Amino acid sequence: MVFTRRQMLAGLAGLAVVGVGGGGAVRYWLGRPGGRAGHDYELIAAPLDVQLVPGHLTPAWAFGGSAPGAELRVRQGDWLRVRFINHLPVPTTIHWHGIRLPLEMDGVPYVSQLPVLPGEYFDYRFRVPDAGTFWYHPHVASTEQLGRGLVGPLIVEERAPTGFAHEATLSLKSWHVDEQGAFVPFSVAREAARVGTLGRLSSINGVPQATIDLPAGQVVRLRLLNVDNTATYRLNFRGTDQVRLYALDGNPIEPRAFGEDYWLGPGMRACVAVRMPPAGEEVAVRDGPVRLGTLRSVATAMPPGVWPPPLPANPVAEPDLARAEKLVFNVEWVGSAAVQGDNGRPPSFWQFNGQAWDITDKTCADRPIARLTRGNSYIFELKNMTQYQHPIHLHGMTFKVIASNRRTIVPYFTDTYLLGKHERAQVALVADNPGTWMFHCHVVDHMETGLMAAIEVA
Ligand code: C2O
Ligand code: CU
Ligand code: CU
Repeated sequence: MVFTRRQMLAGLAGLAVVGVGGGGAVRYWLGRPGGRAGHDYELIAAPLDVQLVPGHLTPAWAFGGSAPGAELRVRQGDWLRVRFINHLPVPTTIHWHGIRLPLEMDGVPYVSQLPVLPGEYFDYRFRVPDAGTFWYHPHVASTEQLGRGLVGPLIVEERAPTGFAHEATLSLKSWHVDEQGAFVPFSVAREAARVGTLGRLSSINGVPQATIDLPAGQVVRLRLLNVDNTATYRLNFRGTDQVRLYALDGNPIEPRAFGEDYWLGPGMRACVAVRMPPAGEEVAVRDGPVRLGTLRSVATAMPPGVWPPPLPANPVAEPDLARAEKLVFNVEWVGSAAVQGDNGRPPSFWQFNGQAWDITDKTCADRPIARLTRGNSYIFELKNMTQYQHPIHLHGMTFKVIASNRRTIVPYFTDTYLLGKHERAQVALVADNPGTWMFHCHVVDHMETGLMAAIEVA
């Protein structure tokens, strides 16, 4: 493929950063500036010292002046136009996780574009077909780049009012830092070969043990994003049972009670409605028994809110299951026989169907593990042959989860499926987006030690 020429930054010094958010600035009482036809952001990636551990600075990397990055918003069906400016000391890209877009905008180095070098910019321009909660991150040296904070929410607003009057975005991330706020390794071989290298300091919107004020008695839409490299959060709430699940990974579901823990793997999102308790009371946001942060009810003069109706479905093509071709993808562990990073190569612990991805080899995408015919329906049988769980993610297309040998599935659309230990699951899709699409585990150091592949649609 021919790449769009990278742009040099000459003459662009001093550009304003538009759309700074995150970092604790919570948005409720949604103001909607009328008459805006589209959104334009100039998004700068640059080093930023942040205080995660009191009295200590952590040398993070930020998008738009915060880590996690600035919240970008766009309306469904509109164009998102982002001029991305790289002020980092390293090459990078932006991938728009969960967005169905043309390959040239997908942000994968040497597959959809060349890396954006320090001092260069790249214009990302695409239309967003689906409403929901998405996110963005680099697809280069991902353990370090995501680990240092280059992760940000991308909110696609529904075209018509949804009935939610209040909302808050909660980006969950656990930082690889020590007691002095210094980074510790983002990936350690013996961990990468197992569950993945876990961070040590959890945070919501970059704040450990964050407290977020929300209006008492109101129904609030919480957009929870797992932007972490490794951790699967066993999400639950304490302090109210007035919690309902409205959407998963950017796609609406029939609203249901939140129930026990919801397992939110890396890359996944959950859209939850919570009715806040009386003023002064709190709701704990937890990972299993561990509190990640607190929602605090503050007094409001507004009359109590009601539960909004289901969110409108996105225009995702329905796979034709009767005619679909079945493809099997085995997730395999090769830890004991691993290539231990000889001559500058990373070790290889994981593979799909006997093939490990090598992040140092720019030609891997020339050898896709599957070739799909545009317009046809497919059922992917995902077989986890390992004793670890893997959030399996596909670029470019949304798939429908239809079956599992481990749990009852109410079919739903997603871009990431958390494949449990030794689970076999079936997902289906219409191959309606031409290109070479990454298919990988979103535990970042699994992906960087083999668990990635390319799937071609032509
Ligand atoms: Cu969040 Cu390759 O993706
Ligand atoms: Cu993605
Ligand atoms: Cu994995």
